[in-house]
Amino acid sequence: MRKFLVFIVLIQVCFGYETYRNYKVYDMTPTNEQHEALANWQNEVGVDFWRFYAPERTSRVMIAPDKQEEFEAFLVQTGIKYEVAIHNMEDLIISERQNITRNRRGRSSPVQPGFTPDFSVYWTADEMEQYCTYLAHTYPNLVQIETLLFSPNNRRIYALKVSNGVFGQKPIIAMEGGMHAREWASPPTVLYLLHKLVEDSQYRNELLANVDWLIVPMDNPDGYEHSRLNARLWRQNRRQVTPTCVGVDINRNFGYSWRTATVACGSQTYPGPSSLSEPESFALHTLLERYASRVKLYLSVHTFGDMVLWPWGYSGSPGWISTHEEHQALGVLWRDGILAQGGRNYIVGNVADVLGNAFGAVDDHMAGHYGIPYVYTLELTSGFQFQYPEARIGALAAETFWGYRAMALHIGEKFS
Ligand SMILES: *[C@@H]1O[C@H](CO)[C@@H](O)[C@H](O)[C@H]1NC(C)=O
Ligand SMILES: [Zn+2]
Repeated sequence: MRKFLVFIVLIQVCFGYETYRNYKVYDMTPTNEQHEALANWQNEVGVDFWRFYAPERTSRVMIAPDKQEEFEAFLVQTGIKYEVAIHNMEDLIISERQNITRNRRGRSSPVQPGFTPDFSVYWTADEMEQYCTYLAHTYPNLVQIETLLFSPNNRRIYALKVSNGVFGQKPIIAMEGGMHAREWASPPTVLYLLHKLVEDSQYRNELLANVDWLIVPMDNPDGYEHSRLNARLWRQNRRQVTPTCVGVDINRNFGYSWRTATVACGSQTYPGPSSLSEPESFALHTLLERYASRVKLYLSVHTFGDMVLWPWGYSGSPGWISTHEEHQALGVLWRDGILAQGGRNYIVGNVADVLGNAFGAVDDHMAGHYGIPYVYTLELTSGFQFQYPEARIGALAAETFWGYRAMALHIGEKFS
């Protein structure tokens, strides 16, 4: 019996994880003329642009083994300058997994009632929910937790309302983390901010004085758990869209600038069969529908790139949002708030200019559909791709806090 159990466990260990064996990552620096040809690869199955920058800058793409020959032939034929940055993605995935397993060994849960939460490990979606439930239970005068919807795999998508008065009477700052499954460093910075708002009396007083907070720390729990337990570089949700295809890019599924591009299901940026078709986008849409008139700042927290980016995503220069100067100025406050604490230097700019056009993203929806005056996509971290080391999460969360704080103080002053 014992041997049989060991056998079962072994099977799960060997077959639970999707392999990235021989997946290669390429860095390419296309000229203006070559850029468009490269852009045509964006919607191909087996092609995963981790970063697609403007011409003359170095973009990064991961290519599945069965597409590599064709892709390299294309690069050579068009004369695009490139190099292979990672020869076998699986090595890095295994290394990260071993580190995480080692780091967790012998430890108790990072979330223990009555103790400061532990930001030196990545939490499971359940642990995030436990912490949020604990906060609402322990600080009922400050925190309410509300179920928005259930995910396709029946996980709870929830929001926290944080206020030291009656929620919604002050200007509201709304934010969401974890929309993209593999961007693991996003939720901990949101949860750390939540911890400061609720459990640290110094910052609680300061940051609840003039604003209320509406926080969805983990928008895509299905995707996150799939990334943790099965396919590390999964980006989308986990809805079965057709019998042969799973997953929609939530950040291409919002209504304001959604478009039925010719992007097939199976592509990394598949926008879904119709706008707001996915529970993870619909939950945010309906939540904001109720509070939008009071929401003055919306933050969508992603990784990576050390960037603070403002709308529109569907149109870059010169078709910027009319309030681009105000957006730039508040973005600079974020950057300077972090720099003043010895943190990293963020790029502040228009999302389409920096990352290329994106349609149906949450930032366009919040600014365009709901008219929220300040909207940003944050790209936290750089230098580690999606595999941000656990040992650095605490420092990242602490650093990011100064950015959140700088923005919040300004919003509080300006709108109250
Ligand atoms: C795993 O840990 C080792 C030793 O600290 C480190 O050198 C390596 O970069 C880590 N791997 C990943 C993918 O983070
Ligand atoms: Zn993202």
